[in-house]
Amino acid sequence: MSNNLLTGKRGIVFGALNEKSIAWKVAERAVEEGATITLSNTPVAVRMGTVNALSEKLNCEVIPADATSVEDLENVFKRSMEVLGGKIDFVLHSIGMSPNVRKHRTYDDLDYNMLSTTLDVSAVSFHKMIQSAKKLDAINEYGSIVALTYVAAQRTFFGYNDMADAKALLESIARSFGYIYGREHHVRINTISQSPTMTTAGQGVKGMNKLYDFADRMSPLGNATADECADYCMVMFSDLTKKVTMQNLYHDGGFSNVGMSLRAMATYERGLDEYKDENGKIIYG
Ligand SMILES: NC(=O)c1ccc[n+]([C@@H]2O[C@H](COP(=O)([O-])OP(=O)(O)OC[C@H]3O[C@@H](n4cnc5c(N)ncnc54)[C@H](O)[C@@H]3O)[C@@H](O)[C@H]2O)c1
Repeated sequence: MSNNLLTGKRGIVFGALNEKSIAWKVAERAVEEGATITLSNTPVAVRMGTVNALSEKLNCEVIPADATSVEDLENVFKRSMEVLGGKIDFVLHSIGMSPNVRKHRTYDDLDYNMLSTTLDVSAVSFHKMIQSAKKLDAINEYGSIVALTYVAAQRTFFGYNDMADAKALLESIARSFGYIYGREHHVRINTISQSPTMTTAGQGVKGMNKLYDFADRMSPLGNATADECADYCMVMFSDLTKKVTMQNLYHDGGFSNVGMSLRAMATYERGLDEYKDENGKIIYG
């Protein structure tokens, strides 16, 4: 359902890989809300993935870019202003990748070259994106820049590995640059901290199925879906949130503020029963 929240606005959506991608849902919703957009992803993702199908469906251009390359990012902003016919009103950074996670390197056995790549792709790319936009004066007053993050930036989650450090840096960049861009051009920068979501990147996290289930049981409203995340992005891109900036906004069904829920406790107790020995003694209590 459209509320015309983004009528007349121009946006860039980075990170739509396939139908499961959060960015994919955001692109669809943004067009539904009246925006005109461009899409961007790595040249290899554009070649191998299904993003061209999305661009055809939404009638928008795909501009390939490696988000670690300032030159590529500058080109995305220049080309987007050209094809959309003016300055940009909203940007989504929906990019994350850890070679350490991919190669099953644990946090106490990190490869440091891989760590540099994790931080560059998943966090520093956000700085590069914003700096490129600012230098080109590519964003309109009260424009809105959003990046997606995860609560592992604040708390330790088994298996999230060096992506936790990347997310902490990403959120810090939103605050540091949010101050400067806000003061000088009234541009807002926020991060949305999303529930575990079954996407290509999400499924790469160790123990994702259990993490997903645990978060769902802990959250009074249940996990937030990718579609619901897209809805939240619409509000953040719209004029309804003009004074929201430098924030990390939880979109997680309440998970981040729950210590223990009834549903999680019930599951935990059932789990304990499974570990009783033949004498009824709990072994792994
Ligand atoms: N899935 C989850 O559980 C979850 C939860 C919270 C936050 N997030 C975050 O949401 C964002 C989107 O991830 P997703 O879950 O939709 O998965 P996804 O795999 O669909 O999207 C990740 C995107 O990053 C792109 N990418 C990787 N390296 C890149 C580079 N060098 N340059 C440009 N793009 C690059 C990929 O091509 C892909 O499109 C990520 O930042 C992720 O960390 C995901």
